[in-house]
Amino acid sequence: MKLQNIIIPATFAGFGVVYLANVYKKFCKKEEPLKEIKANSKAKIDDESPGEYFQLQSANNEVLQKFRVRARIVSYIRQFLDSLGFLEVQTPMMNTVAGGATAKPFITHHNEHNSKMFMRIAPGLSLKMLVVGGIDRAYELGKVFRNESTDLTHNPEFTICEFYMAYADYEDLMSITEDMLSGMVLSIHGTLKINYQPEGPDGPIEQIDFTPPYRRMKIIPELEKRLEVSLPHPSTFDTPEAVELLDRLSTKHDVHCPPPRTAARLLDKLVGHFLEEECRNPTFLIDHPQVMSPLAKCHRSAPGVTERFELFVCKKKICNGYTVLNDPFEQRKRFDQQAKDRAAGDDEAQVIDENYLTALEYGLPPTGGCGMGIDRIAMFLTNSTNIQDIMLLPAMKNMLKRTANCMGE
Ligand SMILES: *[C@@H]1O[C@H](CO)[C@@H](O)[C@H](O)[C@H]1NC(C)=O
Ligand SMILES: *[C@@H]1O[C@H](CO)[C@@H](O)[C@H](O)[C@H]1NC(C)=O
Repeated sequence: MKLQNIIIPATFAGFGVVYLANVYKKFCKKEEPLKEIKANSKAKIDDESPGEYFQLQSANNEVLQKFRVRARIVSYIRQFLDSLGFLEVQTPMMNTVAGGATAKPFITHHNEHNSKMFMRIAPGLSLKMLVVGGIDRAYELGKVFRNESTDLTHNPEFTICEFYMAYADYEDLMSITEDMLSGMVLSIHGTLKINYQPEGPDGPIEQIDFTPPYRRMKIIPELEKRLEVSLPHPSTFDTPEAVELLDRLSTKHDVHCPPPRTAARLLDKLVGHFLEEECRNPTFLIDHPQVMSPLAKCHRSAPGVTERFELFVCKKKICNGYTVLNDPFEQRKRFDQQAKDRAAGDDEAQVIDENYLTALEYGLPPTGGCGMGIDRIAMFLTNSTNIQDIMLLPAMKNMLKRTANCMGE
């Protein structure tokens, strides 16, 4: 019997997992018996014990309950966006350029064309091209892939929902996000105040209040307050003098920033250290400097910063949104700045996407867009401390090793 002959009935995912697990057991006769753990046990990601896997034993246990909540989150989002007239679409997962986010892609190879391809890191650029094409409200809910390390809130593949809306700006998008999140929490838990244990079942219980409107913090003035200095004007952040000042401030406050210490990376670490740490209830950090936001439109009244927001809950980012930069000339300049950061060794800096620039040249109407991390939202709504607790069959190292052993038999 070959592995690919195993069919997991989609409607009984829980039972499918048990079935798959049993088959593995039969295959691996020569190995020691598999240790069975519950998905919500506190096993470390890098635990060296072999063959760990999920087991969803019965229809009523709390593990399965988490996946029911997760499914309700996804269906709530679909229903919410559908009712606002958004069209759900599927855009390519493999592209010749990986754009739309600041992240490192997985590279793959297309044999017939003998060319490099990239797994998508975000669907955003494709969705904006659809807005150019006349779909005024488009969204996609699906997986993205980022070649980065795994920790309690990061997994190399994760689920994102991105939605783009013509004739909307970041203020509109923040209201929509508040409506969507608060409506979702209320429909799932019957209250807007939920209890969460950030350190797991033995840790303290913290209340998260999803009642809108959410607090808004402007990044630059708030940073200046925490740092007790006045920062150079944001439109000069890419000059050597400004980078040097940011560098000195990070060192002074013991804010760790591995090289390359570009303005964007230093600012990102400073914001993480001083501002994100304060976001427990849902909080919007807004008006990011241009150097940190290559795809966002300049702020209509504050030069050097952009119309962008990030939403944090319990110190973790769950949304990123902005008024889309729709000027192709300005966009090319921003990509050039990214190329400089890349040349300085930042392998997460964005690359020039000529197709996207061409689309902007045809004309993108004023548009707002937002992406939300479904897995992290699911963590907060299911009391999970490890992102893998709310993913079915996560790519645990040992599980992969085990599968490889089994196939080799
Ligand atoms: C992922 O990143 C690592 C480390 O930079 C690299 O060695 C590897 O080739 C990358 N994998 C893919 C599939 O791109
Ligand atoms: C999380 O666990 C705590 C303690 O058991 C409980 O009070 C709380 O209601 C749980 N929260 C959710 C969202 O299930």
